[in-house]
Amino acid sequence: MPERKKVNLPFLFKKVADGQPITWLTCYDYPTAYLQEQAGVDMILVGDSLGMTMLGYDSTLPVTMDDMIRHAQAVRRGSANAFLVGDMPYMTYQPSVETAIRNAGRFMAEAACDCIKLEGGAAMADRIKGIVDAGIPAIGHLGLTPQSVSALGGFRVQGKSAALAKKIVDDAKALEKAGAFAILLELVPDRLCKLITERAENCIIMSLGSGPHAHGQLLIYHDMFGLYPKFKPKMAKVYGNAGEVILNGLKGYVAEVSSKTFPQPDNWFGMPDEEYDELLKML
Ligand code: KIV
Repeated sequence: MPERKKVNLPFLFKKVADGQPITWLTCYDYPTAYLQEQAGVDMILVGDSLGMTMLGYDSTLPVTMDDMIRHAQAVRRGSANAFLVGDMPYMTYQPSVETAIRNAGRFMAEAACDCIKLEGGAAMADRIKGIVDAGIPAIGHLGLTPQSVSALGGFRVQGKSAALAKKIVDDAKALEKAGAFAILLELVPDRLCKLITERAENCIIMSLGSGPHAHGQLLIYHDMFGLYPKFKPKMAKVYGNAGEVILNGLKGYVAEVSSKTFPQPDNWFGMPDEEYDELLKML
């Protein structure tokens, strides 16, 4: 397969101008990044959801910058060309603009990310501005923002009432004014996503469970392939049950080792008789 060109901001904005939806997936490791690169995924998010999908925590809150950098580096090794987004974990940008710039810089310098993403609306606009002014492209994240799940009252659709929807519209404008080149809308009603997309001036609107009207779609890789054992969100489409395939394989391995049918000669290596005889003499 001919190697595709590196995805950059002009490429993403051209897709928007041409009415071509942008594809975006989460990814946390080298082999998956390699496959996503081969599939031609435009953008890859090294999400702090790795706290749940890869590390088994109940939320994203325990994830550290060092966790994120380690996984982002592995993903970059697997995908040279996708537009790589480093997701800023809990309390790595909330305390101050300076903290935000320093940690955003780590994604760029240590993991060769193309941009960062952070959660929050108008209250985080100065963090976005600081990061963008430092020369780092930034994506905002509104609607269901998992780092605030306690304040939001759980993993549920956001902005269903007019008042809450208005706040999300205002937050989106504040992030756009602060310089965010894109905004992810997670779990907001489709009509609200459409309205924000239509009003966006120079900002790419992406949807996660927020309907078809955005400039592109994001899915969580583990939900797409039955790889997260605890639950499957409604918004996720399952494209294949890799979890089931792997489980069947594991059961097969356990059964074959137990019944002594694995390994077979194909799975081991011999040594020449004369070398083995020599070895016996040496003992
Ligand atoms: O961490 C993540 O994967 C995310 C998505 C839920 C959008 O932020």
